[in-house]
Amino acid sequence: MCGIVGYVGDGNALEVLTTGLSGLEYRGYDSAGVALGNGRLAVYKRAGELAELEDTLEDVDADGVRVGIGHTRWSTHGPPTDANAHPHTDAAGRVAVVHNGIIENYAALREELSAAGVAFESDTDTEVVPHLIARNLERGMAPERAFRAAIGRLEGSYAIAATVAGSEVVHAARKESPLVIGLGEGATYLASDVPAFIEFTDRVIYLEDDQFARLDAGGAVVADADGAVLDPPVDTIEWDPEDAGKSGYDHYMLKEINEQPSALRDCLRGRIDGLEGSVHLEELAGLEPSGPIQLVACGTSYHAALFAAGMFRRRGIHADAFIASEYHADRLPVDADTLVVGVTQSGETADTMRALREANRAGARTLAVTNVVGSSAARECDRTLYIRAGPEIGVAATKTFASQQLALALVVAELTGSSHGLVDELRDVPDAVQTVLDTSRASEVADAYVDADAYFFIGRGYQYPVALEGALKMKEITYRHAEGFAAGELKHGPLALVTEETPVFALVTGEGELARKTVGNVKEVEARGAPVVAVSDGRTEVDRYADELLSVPEIGEIGAAVAANVQLQLVSYWVANSLGRSIDRPRNLAKSVTVE
Ligand code: F6R
Repeated sequence: MCGIVGYVGDGNALEVLTTGLSGLEYRGYDSAGVALGNGRLAVYKRAGELAELEDTLEDVDADGVRVGIGHTRWSTHGPPTDANAHPHTDAAGRVAVVHNGIIENYAALREELSAAGVAFESDTDTEVVPHLIARNLERGMAPERAFRAAIGRLEGSYAIAATVAGSEVVHAARKESPLVIGLGEGATYLASDVPAFIEFTDRVIYLEDDQFARLDAGGAVVADADGAVLDPPVDTIEWDPEDAGKSGYDHYMLKEINEQPSALRDCLRGRIDGLEGSVHLEELAGLEPSGPIQLVACGTSYHAALFAAGMFRRRGIHADAFIASEYHADRLPVDADTLVVGVTQSGETADTMRALREANRAGARTLAVTNVVGSSAARECDRTLYIRAGPEIGVAATKTFASQQLALALVVAELTGSSHGLVDELRDVPDAVQTVLDTSRASEVADAYVDADAYFFIGRGYQYPVALEGALKMKEITYRHAEGFAAGELKHGPLALVTEETPVFALVTGEGELARKTVGNVKEVEARGAPVVAVSDGRTEVDRYADELLSVPEIGEIGAAVAANVQLQLVSYWVANSLGRSIDRPRNLAKSVTVE
């Protein structure tokens, strides 16, 4: 996830672009850059937050520059450095390109271009694009044709903007990554999201997949992949510009919950082959386990680690999940045959980092599963797999948990050679999550139980970590008492807490023994008068004993755990919303916990 901006008009392009980039910083903030067109292209780019770029731009005289593109980056290929920041150009500096998404066939394109004598200056997938366009220009194509032909070579997802020196035009193309055009008076804007230009215009055209646009100061021409000119609808945005970064949602948390289908698609992109039914994670080559697997993590990430440990064990591999602050390599059997997996969204959590350092010192092999390219965890570990969820602004982890679940499922499939059967299941998860988002009754359930004394969450198997995660989310954003239990443990103590004032959320999916036994636990709860909210795929008779039902689609057990969690995220969100809590910044909590 990155942010793109583009501008052509009679104003100062540099001012518009930097305003736009600050409106998109929530999409990425590890490096930023702009290309200004003024006869020839001038490119300025810097690693770090936007302020770093702004410092560099302070002395740049951009009077009279009417066209430009800009980018704020959330790294996916290559660490956040000046060289890897966008825009990228061809060798002659004739074409500048910014990109959001992942070009799956970039390695093959890079090889082809290198063989033709092109020298690359970055580690990014994006850099192939300006070189492809430049080659087309050299072959005599006009800029628009050169751009379209280059885009035609790409596989994967992209929102791309390009400008060619000497033209006051921005070219754009979209596939599975957002792009929106803003129509002003004597000026036309382009961005990944409306906040980039909402202060200049509220008239927008949302570009659809496989559409191209040619922007000049007079407006935009939108065409389909075959070049047929389209007549797309022009919408009027009605948000308060103050809230624009949230794309119209009241909170980042709700926005991020709703981003899960696309985050999950990004996580899977290029890593599964639906036809072959196989998983390909180059990042893990040579890492096949020769001994036990130890997963270390904190909070929500620990719940993802527990989930993954269960998957490994089901495939006959000895795996344990540790709360990172309770992991001490000198008190455990750890040696060169041990694989220690650090699961951490931020890649900076002090407890997880200490555990990983200890594991490294003890001679274990280490793998980071993280969201942040170039983070401390990525640098500490022998290998890194990025979950590709994009930046998460809400303190409560939501989309990153779902992406961790899928990324870890891929790790399990790759390391245990058990991708067969799993690939079909994983591929269906983004759609299943979308179905939950489209049909959820979570806000009604939240209204029904907003005054409860406490909330309990129960599940077995893969739904046990989800029960823990459901309770954690409820605690941190509502400040209400909540606990998650293994469903079978209720009768060993916690049942004493169950009353008519304590709703019990029961996670019951599938039709196997674990689901049937959880139904038995639901009956025990119901007999004590507690309200039951079943999170169910309808494959057991749990619905009969439930006061409320939150449905999830019939899908495999991994997908069911991802989808069920989304229902619980929504319930917590709506309870917290009714209580007027500070949802994006809960009291006493921080997004990145860098102290032990
Ligand atoms: C809960 C939450 C925290 C984090 C934990 C670990 O919503 O966000 O529990 O999961 O602090 O953080 P990372 O994953 O960055 O190591």
